[in-house]
Amino acid sequence: METVQIPDEDDVIPVPAAVTAIAAGDAIRPVWLNELGGITFELGEGDVRRFAKWAPPDVELDLTGEAERLRWAAAYSPVPRVLAEGADAEGRWLVTAGLPGRSAVARRWRSSPRLAVQAAGSGLRRLHEALPVDECPFDWSVASRKARSSRWSSTPDPALGPEPPIDRLVVCHGDPCVPNTLLLDDGTWSGHVDFDALGVADRWADLAVASMSLGWNYGDGWEGVFFEAYGIAPDPARIAFYRRLWDAT
Ligand SMILES: Nc1ncnc2c1ncn2[C@@H]1O[C@H](COP(=O)(O)OP(=O)(O)OP(=O)(O)O)[C@@H](O)[C@H]1O
Ligand SMILES: [Mg+2]
Repeated sequence: METVQIPDEDDVIPVPAAVTAIAAGDAIRPVWLNELGGITFELGEGDVRRFAKWAPPDVELDLTGEAERLRWAAAYSPVPRVLAEGADAEGRWLVTAGLPGRSAVARRWRSSPRLAVQAAGSGLRRLHEALPVDECPFDWSVASRKARSSRWSSTPDPALGPEPPIDRLVVCHGDPCVPNTLLLDDGTWSGHVDFDALGVADRWADLAVASMSLGWNYGDGWEGVFFEAYGIAPDPARIAFYRRLWDAT
């Protein structure tokens, strides 16, 4: 997620047969290529606007885990509603209803990011306040992340250091990089997408990574605006720990 992965208009992206079938004659627009080789297509418009997230078999994208988490979170916060899941020999897919708005890294926000950064901060705060820790069946603790990470199990990082005491347990987004925040055209936060890692953890696990992703997408100098919009003073030790953990897992 370190680079912007919005396809250019003249990029030729092959459309998998399953996605053509799901579109059923509606317009198909590739909107996102992830670093692993997954592709998200936007299908149709208006009431039937929907998104098909597709991955070939060798790509590690947990679409089943994401669908489970979306079904759980939908009761509390604006997240994509699951419409369909499936698989064939070519790949797997998850189809969700379109949420209003566009990614916070759409071209207009990249050139003038202040409103997008503020929405990322205040939107993350709203997500953390809306999702109930006591009801959440998913875990994103430090131990669970190490256990699930193939990178960590092959080469544990001795420089990670000890886990800081929990500041506040919340249900974290799990991939709070700024492209996963959606905004209306006026800059209002409209929701989050991309929930395959959602789970209970210290809020700094999300805050550290969300703030780090601002630099990847908008350049330096936006972290203060982000933390102010969330309503928290930066905690350098926890930020450093959770950024190391992100890199190590
Ligand atoms: N239901 C939806 N409503 C609106 N936009 C959506 C929806 N689903 C996906 N998108 C758009 O498609 C993009 C890609 O979706 P998503 O982030 O889930 O894919 P990903 O491949 O897991 O991304 P990443 O590279 O962050 O891992 C999002 O940033 C968002 O702009
Ligand atoms: Mg994403």
